[in-house]
Amino acid sequence: MTRTEAPPNTTAVIGLQWGDEGKGKIVDLLAREHDWVVRYNGGANAGHSVVVNGERFALHLMPSGVLCKGVTSVIGHGVVLDPSQLLSEIASLRKRGVEVRSLLISSGAHIVMPYHKAEDAARESLLAEQRGGSGSIGTTGRGIGPAYADKVQRGTAVRVGDLLRPAVLRARVEAAVALKRPVLERHGGTPADATDVEGIIDLATRWGQELEPFIADTRGALHSAIDRGERVLFEGANATLLDVDHGTYPFVTSSSPTALGIGPGTGLPPAAIGRVVGIAKAYQTRVGAGPMPTELLDADGERIRERGREFGTTTGRPRRCGWLDLVALRYAAEVNGIDEIALMLVDVLAGFKEVRVCRAYRIDGRETDRFDPDASVLGRCEPVYDTLPGFAQEITGVTEAGSLPEAVLGYVAAVEAAVGVPVRILSVGPDRSQTISLDAGGVLS
Ligand code: IMP
Repeated sequence: MTRTEAPPNTTAVIGLQWGDEGKGKIVDLLAREHDWVVRYNGGANAGHSVVVNGERFALHLMPSGVLCKGVTSVIGHGVVLDPSQLLSEIASLRKRGVEVRSLLISSGAHIVMPYHKAEDAARESLLAEQRGGSGSIGTTGRGIGPAYADKVQRGTAVRVGDLLRPAVLRARVEAAVALKRPVLERHGGTPADATDVEGIIDLATRWGQELEPFIADTRGALHSAIDRGERVLFEGANATLLDVDHGTYPFVTSSSPTALGIGPGTGLPPAAIGRVVGIAKAYQTRVGAGPMPTELLDADGERIRERGREFGTTTGRPRRCGWLDLVALRYAAEVNGIDEIALMLVDVLAGFKEVRVCRAYRIDGRETDRFDPDASVLGRCEPVYDTLPGFAQEITGVTEAGSLPEAVLGYVAAVEAAVGVPVRILSVGPDRSQTISLDAGGVLS
């Protein structure tokens, strides 16, 4: 695309917290108004649950748009692709009657190899043993960090297009194994097939044969689509506070899940990003290690975890739960330049007499409303709360904004006032039908 007067018909859906905000549900809903859905970052560390007519689909690599007829799904340049995972998602979707035809995979996306998963595990256990060090990150174990590290180090990485180039594939795998095997062997506990050159080349060649129909120049396809005025939805995986540059480093993932990652992850220029929708839960969750100022280690946290079914889609780990952190939310809104918020899982807060939102932090004896994402600073921040009225009534069956309890509308107003951006969508349950448009006043359709 070139710079034109007309704004592009594009929407970005971005997680504003530490992931698992319910992005998949909103992408699935918005996909119906778009022609393309594009994943641009992350890999199988992401987990999207989408419920359609009571049926739950758990997706990790497949763009959520795959459940919408007429939409082309794209796995862009910035994704690290685990072909075994993708092929098993394709097979299980097909088994359930979802045809996977319109899928394009960037030839420039990087492949997660078996040795990347072994390295991920080895690094985590070494970091966990380290005394006085930063400790382990609590990764998903999907080989994400090592795959991105190889991409940046150059020379040992395999890209999707290389699966179809036997000489390049062999050279890269041989180089990678030569460098990694001594380290992995010293660490011990690595399965032998993670560094078996011939076995890996055979596996990767089979992946290439199965993925070949989908491999494409996705950058070119997206430029042309936008030039034709087609509507493109960018699906951020993971979330803002896990961004490798702007998240709570080092407790982050290894990609750029923010709107800032769309350019490098797709090959589109900044002008290609139209509307930006930020997705936030009505409370806070986090999986893995790292600071979380509003974490609740008491019965309130347990109640949120149980009601919100806060267990990881990818790893099954219980998520850490806490009150909504408005300081972090305002920061995430700023980094992404969001136009609006979709507030998710509001129904989970029903039954609390009072709810709390964090409006500032206390650090070194002073109060601040600025968010410093560095883990060593954030880890010292204590939350300063505002207390708001709770609501007793269950709201999962509410279909009109006018029928929502006063306390819910008050909560929404508090979020809007703190962040300076309108909340346009309220989600009160997992199904598509449990989504209220605050503009239209009724269920989003
Ligand atoms: P990695 O992305 O597997 O390297 O994990 C790094 C950190 O990001 C860990 O704390 C993970 O739990 C977290 N993480 C990565 N992806 C997601 C996600 O989609 N939702 C929630 N947490 C995630």
